[in-house]
Order: sequence, then C-alpha cells, then structure tokens
Amino acid sequence: MTTTVRVNGAQPYDVVIGRNLLGALPGLVGEAKRVLVVHPAALATTADAVIEDLRAAGYETFGAEVPDAEEAKTAQVAAFLWGVLGQADFTRSDAIVAVGGGATTDLGGFVAATWLRGIKVVQVPTTLLAMVDAAVGGKTGINTAEGKNLVGSFHPPAGVLCDLAALASMPKHDFVAGLAEVVKCGFIADPRILDLVEENVETLTDPVRASESEVLAELVERAVQVKADVVGEDLKEAGLREILNYGHTFAHAIENVERYQWRHGAAVSVGMVYVAELARLAGKLSDEVVDRHRSILTSLGLPTTYRGDRWERLLTAMRRDKKTRGDLLRFVVLEGVGKPTRLEGPDPTLLVAAYAEVSRDDSSTAIVL
Ligand code: GLY
Repeated sequence: MTTTVRVNGAQPYDVVIGRNLLGALPGLVGEAKRVLVVHPAALATTADAVIEDLRAAGYETFGAEVPDAEEAKTAQVAAFLWGVLGQADFTRSDAIVAVGGGATTDLGGFVAATWLRGIKVVQVPTTLLAMVDAAVGGKTGINTAEGKNLVGSFHPPAGVLCDLAALASMPKHDFVAGLAEVVKCGFIADPRILDLVEENVETLTDPVRASESEVLAELVERAVQVKADVVGEDLKEAGLREILNYGHTFAHAIENVERYQWRHGAAVSVGMVYVAELARLAGKLSDEVVDRHRSILTSLGLPTTYRGDRWERLLTAMRRDKKTRGDLLRFVVLEGVGKPTRLEGPDPTLLVAAYAEVSRDDSSTAIVL
C-alpha cells in the first residue's frame, strides 16, 4: 500500500511512502525540462532506472555520480555539480533528483538551493535515516574543514519518494541505527511508535523482513508525520523544530569526540538516554520513562552507554554545538512521552550526574561503528 504524508509550509509537498514506487517520480518532479539525477556510485543501477523512468516521461535527463556518504558533502563536490548544471544549461525551471542516503540528499538539496538561487529538488532517500529525517524538512548543506553542516540552506523539496524496497539491501547495523530516529519521534510526539517497536523487535532488526513488513511502513509513515507536523509549522528552527534535536546535543558531542567514526543513530541512542537521565535528575521525568528509553534502545541492539573518561571533551563539544545559545547549554528534554520541553543552563552537577548514569556499564555488545 502506498501512503502520502503532506508537509505544509509556503510550498507544501508530498512524501510518498510505499514499495516499488519509481512510477510516482514524474508526478513529484512535475513541470521541468531537464533533470539532473545525483547519486553515489553504489546506486548506479537504481539511478539508471530513475533516469529511464524520467526519460520515458519526457524529461531531458542527466546523471552525476558523487562520492559515497560524507565524502560527498564538500565544496568541491558541490562545485562539480554546479559545473554539470552550467554545462547542461540548467535554468530556473529545471530540477535535481537526489538518490541516496542523507549525505546525497543534503548535497543534492544544497546544490538545488544555490543554483540560480534555487531550483526544484526531489529527494529519493534509500536509507532509513534519510527517509525519516534527512530527506524531509528542507535542511540542506555541506561540511567544511571546521565542522559538519556549517554551510547550508533551508530549501524544502518539491517531493520525497520513500521506496521501502530499497531498505532490504541495507547493512543491518546501518538500518538499526536509522531506527534510533524513529524511536526519537516516538518519545517526542507519537507514543504508538514506541508500542510498535516494542512489539516487533525481531522483524525490525532484520532489514529484509522489515522492508517487506507493514509495521515498518507504518513506522516510517508515523515518523515522517511527526517531522511533517513540526517542520510544517517551524521550517527555520525558530522554536518547535528544536524538538527534533532530542538527544542530539550529547550525540553530536560523541560524534565529535569519536571523530565521526560512530554511526549517527548510535550516538543519538546514547544521547537520548543522557537527556532522559538529565530530565529525571532535574525532577521532570519519571524513572519509568527513563527505563523505557534503555529497554527499547537496547532491544534493538543500540548503545545506551558511553565511556566514562571523556567528560571534559564532551562538554567542550556540547558548548560548541550550533544549537547552543550564548554560553547557555540548552537541551530538549521530556516531561513525559510526547511532552517535550526545554532545559536551559542546567546546574553543572546535573550534567555530570547524568554523564555518570550513562557511563556506568560497558556497551561493547551494542552497535556503535
Ligand atoms: N534533523 C533535525 C531536523 O531536521 O531539524
């Protein structure tokens, strides 16, 4: 079954979720003459199918291969794509289709945002993380030597195509890391997500079974709906959108300290337990909800602890996080499931005490790399 989630805003768009959906792509691209399909080498076959479909629908199509994962998010790769667009005479009424994981969709979105001050982009995410997070909501960007996503733009796509069949070939640990963002949506806004994950752990930890299951389709739809509700109201992160960063302040610090060798979802998993502990210590969250964080994430094989000898480095990284305002550390915390709030400038003793709670045990059996 195919479902569609509408994302509201200045220019509303649809996120189409289902299986074997390529036929739906021309409908999302809409009016355009030329289309550039951006993809990593590993997805050349998928990109060829996309190009074939677009050509059959009457578009003049071009393909551009970019490096895999974060290697794609550089000024050099963006400049290469601007060159391709220039050589092919792309005008304001042409479009980019980005096929790949979050790095490819961030890059494709950024190049679309900047070419002629903005052309259409349609995102075709092929990883779980990109489907439920990166490709939806209009954040686009590249990295610089100083940090990740420091250059970018809010540029909502014209449409997003989530073909669940693409997930069957994902490595298990990458797939499960993507589930951390799904669980995040459960804790901040949609408790039914948590029930569904708890009831279907075996299916969800096998990418082939999951990709064919109704439960994954429902989870992706629910997670996308959570994101759509938030970004439809607050595209530019003036307030509400911050809740999507639940667990991310501590997660970004881990990623920084680990020199980006941890999977994002694994870091978010520990980060959610950290803020849950922080909220408990601040008197906002019950033991029961904190325990639920640990049990659900552990059942998926995600880490919930981090080494105990990195506090100073983590604190420095958290202070540098771009969500920090002035000198005050700000965290999205919960007062209950689906009840996010902010904790600004918490007492340093609470920050250290929460760290002690996540650095108690060894997490060597969980997915980190
Ligand atoms: N990944 C968080 C956001 O899109 O705002």
